[in-house]
Amino acid sequence: MKSLNRVLILVFFNIMVATTVILTAGHKATGPTNLSGAEIWRSKNCAACHSIFGLGGHIGPDLTNAYGSKEPDYLDYVLKDGIRKMPNFELSEAERTELIHYLKHINSLGEYPLKSLTAEPFGNYND
Ligand code: HEC
Repeated sequence: MKSLNRVLILVFFNIMVATTVILTAGHKATGPTNLSGAEIWRSKNCAACHSIFGLGGHIGPDLTNAYGSKEPDYLDYVLKDGIRKMPNFELSEAERTELIHYLKHINSLGEYPLKSLTAEPFGNYND
């Protein structure tokens, strides 16, 4: 019974996190060029497998800094054909370009995980 409760709490927490990610992904992308990339991100449910700033699915890698760490050509290749457990979404060239713009925008918001943050007890931190 206890472990069932734990599972239910975990499931509930995951739904909350996924909802937050889906809602905030749309919020962050206010620039006109990023809007449709964010829409594609939501409509294809990328957040089911990918997180941004650690929020979202963990089947695939966190994509906060995918744009900063990988060549755009590589991102386009993955989006076009899929790779291993990453499905092929049959995305058009325009959709792939929008998604890469969106990842570029997300990358510009900051780094994840934070490399400079040293957490201290009692809530103090140095950055
Ligand atoms: C069913 C789960 C799943 C979904 C849904 C999914 N991905 Fe992935 N994705 C993966 C996995 C797993 C990988 C890692 C593949 C590997 O290298 O083995 C990946 C890799 C990637 C990469 C390459 C990241 C890197 O650093 O190499 C990008 C970019 C990417 N996905 C973008 C997307 C986008 C955009 C969407 C929505 C259109 C999406 N993914 C939907 C599972 C998924």
